[in-house]
Amino acid sequence: MSYRGRSWKKRVVLASGTAILVLSAVLADAPSALAGPPVHRLLPGAMRSVQEGEGKKVFESLCVTCHGSKGRGDGPAARDMPKKPASLADSTFQATRTDQQLVAVIKAGKPPMLSFEDQLSPAQIKAVVAYIRLLGRRTQ
Ligand code: HEC
Repeated sequence: MSYRGRSWKKRVVLASGTAILVLSAVLADAPSALAGPPVHRLLPGAMRSVQEGEGKKVFESLCVTCHGSKGRGDGPAARDMPKKPASLADSTFQATRTDQQLVAVIKAGKPPMLSFEDQLSPAQIKAVVAYIRLLGRRTQ
């Protein structure tokens, strides 16, 4: 085997080593994705914008009637409600809830808001939380 052949192999080994390192860094972050401080930690990088896109669809079909298109609690159905939905986009609100708490409240509901556990998959719930975080960043 020539020297050139060996260095080619070496590069392949190095490249796959790097890929494994990057991948394990991403995966290591995954289990803690819902724990921790109230910052957006659902998914990293490019996967996050896909998730936010999914979340936007969910939000626009099931949540805007009460929460409003920007999440400010001013949707048409909120007008006659004795208890107004809080502004989800508000930075104070955002700071007082972890992703895990948002997931839990969307699952369980919070009267007069109904539970969405039967209508949304766990992935859709995480996605809508990602979108709520995006609404928060947009209004900061
Ligand atoms: C029927 C109107 C209505 C719909 C539809 C609705 N909500 Fe709500 N939501 C409310 C109201 C009212 C509150 C405030 C409840 C309270 O503070 O006690 C609320 C509160 C919340 C909160 C804050 C809970 C907290 O931690 O204090 C989140 C997050 C939320 N809604 C997410 C959603 C999402 C996501 C959807 C769609 C999947 C949705 N809501 C659909 C009325 C609604």
